[in-house]
Amino acid sequence: MAKVLVLGANGKIARLAEHIFVDTTDSDLKLYLRDAGRLKDFADSHTLVEAIEGDATDVDNLSEAMKDVDVVYANLAGGNIESEARAVVKAMHATNKTRLIWISTLGIYDEVPGKFGEWNNSTLGSYITNYAAAAKVIEESDLDYTIIRPAWLTDKPEVDYEVTQKGESFKGTEVSRRSIAQVVVDITQDPDKFKRESIGVNKPNTDGDKPAWY
Ligand SMILES: NC(=O)c1ccc[n+]([C@@H]2O[C@H](COP(=O)([O-])OP(=O)(O)OC[C@H]3O[C@@H](n4cnc5c(N)ncnc54)[C@H](OP(=O)(O)O)[C@@H]3O)[C@@H](O)[C@H]2O)c1
Repeated sequence: MAKVLVLGANGKIARLAEHIFVDTTDSDLKLYLRDAGRLKDFADSHTLVEAIEGDATDVDNLSEAMKDVDVVYANLAGGNIESEARAVVKAMHATNKTRLIWISTLGIYDEVPGKFGEWNNSTLGSYITNYAAAAKVIEESDLDYTIIRPAWLTDKPEVDYEVTQKGESFKGTEVSRRSIAQVVVDITQDPDKFKRESIGVNKPNTDGDKPAWY
């Protein structure tokens, strides 16, 4: 039974994952977020769930939160995502933790082919370079990471995805947050899955020059 620390626990994918954890696993959850009041009701209504307030750049607070967990799942964002990555790696080293799931984005290795790749680069701009720098921090660490590179996210209530590996061209344009949440939960239940891998995750047969809603 894995005890999981969720960083950025009020994020959209994180919220979906938290419900899957509670409904389908016996994992203990620690929910780490900037304003813990937002998840207090959720934490109070489930005996295996605890909400903790903190910023993902605060190494001491992260280390305290990590002490008793088996897996760290980082669902973070922002222009300072590289600093967040450095803080997470530092805190994991300080607490001898090894298993990290890190949500990134498509495009960090310039792996998105064709017109969609060009559109993705020009639309996302510095977001991609920031996320690439964060992923580099994770990959250059000795941690047992899984970096997840989702396609453009939808809120469709479906689990329908395929995976590409680093070094392969990215496939498709979109994927549901629900699919990514399921991938995260599955890894926590089988920690060797996708270990030290950076995976692209997309919905099959969604190739195009842009996501369908653009
Ligand atoms: N939109 C897309 O199509 C797309 C595609 C691929 C990848 N992605 C990326 O996938 C990731 C997850 O997606 P999502 O929809 O779950 O994102 P989201 O709802 O924006 O969740 C990100 C969470 O990160 C938290 N966060 C940011 N900085 C933090 C800090 N310093 N300390 C603590 N928490 C912090 C935010 O907290 P607060 O709630 O406190 O602000 C937010 O809850 C994001 O990084 C997103 O950019 C998005």
